[in-house]
Amino acid sequence: MDVSAHKKQQPLCIGILTTPDPKRQFSGNRENFIDLIKAGYEQGALVYVVTTSDLKLSGKQVQAYCYQLASKKWNKQLMPLPDVIYNRIPTRRLEIQSDVQRTIQACIRSKQVHLFNPFFFDKWTLFEWLDQSPEIRKYVPVTKQLSSQAVLESMLKRFPFIYLKPVEGKAGKGIMRLERITKKSGAQTYKLTMQETADSHYELFTNLSDVWNRIAENKKDENYIIQQGILLSNFNKRPFDLRALLQKTSKGTWSVTGIGARVAGKRSITTHVPRGGSIDDPARLLEKSFGPLKAKRILQRTRSTALLMANSVEQTSKQKLGEMSMDLGVDLDGRIWFFEANSKPMKFDEPHIRKKSLTRIIGYSVYLANKNKTK
Ligand SMILES: Nc1ncnc2c1ncn2[C@@H]1O[C@H](COP(=O)(O)OP(=O)(O)O)[C@@H](O)[C@H]1O
Ligand SMILES: [Mg+2]
Repeated sequence: MDVSAHKKQQPLCIGILTTPDPKRQFSGNRENFIDLIKAGYEQGALVYVVTTSDLKLSGKQVQAYCYQLASKKWNKQLMPLPDVIYNRIPTRRLEIQSDVQRTIQACIRSKQVHLFNPFFFDKWTLFEWLDQSPEIRKYVPVTKQLSSQAVLESMLKRFPFIYLKPVEGKAGKGIMRLERITKKSGAQTYKLTMQETADSHYELFTNLSDVWNRIAENKKDENYIIQQGILLSNFNKRPFDLRALLQKTSKGTWSVTGIGARVAGKRSITTHVPRGGSIDDPARLLEKSFGPLKAKRILQRTRSTALLMANSVEQTSKQKLGEMSMDLGVDLDGRIWFFEANSKPMKFDEPHIRKKSLTRIIGYSVYLANKNKTK
C-alpha cells in the first residue's frame, strides 16, 4: 500500500479517538493502539491518540499522545489536526456522554476530518436495519424485543429453543437460552440456561410465568432481544461459530479481511474465549462436519453473505463505516446465519488476520484522506 499516494505534502495523519482518563491519561486498549501506531510507522503514516476533550477542530493542531517506539513512552505534544479519525472510544457508557457526543457530531459535520465508525451498534437496531428486504432477512434469525410474557410465549410456540440477549451486551454477558422440552406424557418443561463467567447453569420450570419471572429477575432493567435459536454445527459435540472481520480497502470497498472460528466451551452457551471457548480453523471445523467439498462451498458462501450483510448494515445505518466484525453461525444443514455485527471489533488473535487488519485501516485512511468530503 502506497501512503505516498496521499495528496498532501505532509504525511497522512490518523488520530485514534478515545476519551480522557484521569488515572491513565486516556482510555482504551493501549496495546492495540501501539500496534496501529507501528503499522502506520511502517507504512509512512503518522498515527497518534487524541482524546475527545483535546480534539478541537477549529485549530490546525491538536494536543495528542504520541508513542515513542524506542523509549516505549507516551508523550503529549502538539500534532497536526488528523486527516482521518479512527473512533475507538471503548464503551457505550463513555460514548453517550454529552461532551463526547458533541465531539463526534462535530467530526461528522467537519469538512476537514473524516471520522469512520461513529457509534456502537445495538442489537435491536441492527435487526431493524436488517429487516428491510427478504434477501437479507433470510440470513437473520427471527428476532423480537423481549417486551412481555406474550412475546416469550409466541416465540416458544414457533421455535424449540430461543436465545435471550441484552441489546447492549457483548462477550456473552447476560445471555440466556430457553428450551421447550415436551415430555412423553405431553407435559411441557422449560429449561433456562444462564451464562456465567466461563460456566453456565440451568434451571427447570413447568410454568411459563415462573420462567418469565426468573428472566425478569436476571435481566433487571436491561433491554433484551429474543431470538430464534439456531442449532449450530459442532465439533466433538461443541457448537462453533464463525467470526468475520470486514474492512474497507484502499479503494473504499468492503472486503473480508479474514474469518476465524470459535468453538464453545464445554459448559457454555456461547463461543467466547473468556467463557471457555477456543480458537480454531474454520476450514478444518467445516470439513469435519460437512466434508471437504461442501466445507469449501460453505466458506465461500460465508464470505459472500458477510459482504452482503456489511453493505446492508452500512446502507441502512446511514453511518460512515470502515470496519466491522460479524458473528455468523452455520447450522446442521450448512445454512449461514447472522448473529451480530460489531462496529468496534475486538482484536483478532489469528496473526494473519491481525496483520492484514492493521494494514487495511491505514489503506482505508489514505483513501478517505484523498476524498473530498461531501455532505
Ligand atoms: N440465536 C442463536 N442461536 C444459537 N446460538 C446463538 C444465538 N445467538 C447467539 N448465539 C451464540 O452466542 C454467541 C454470542 O451471541 P452474540 O449475539 O454474538 O452476543 P455477544 O454480543 O454477547 O457476543 C454467538 O456467537 C453464538 O455462539
Ligand atoms: Mg458476539
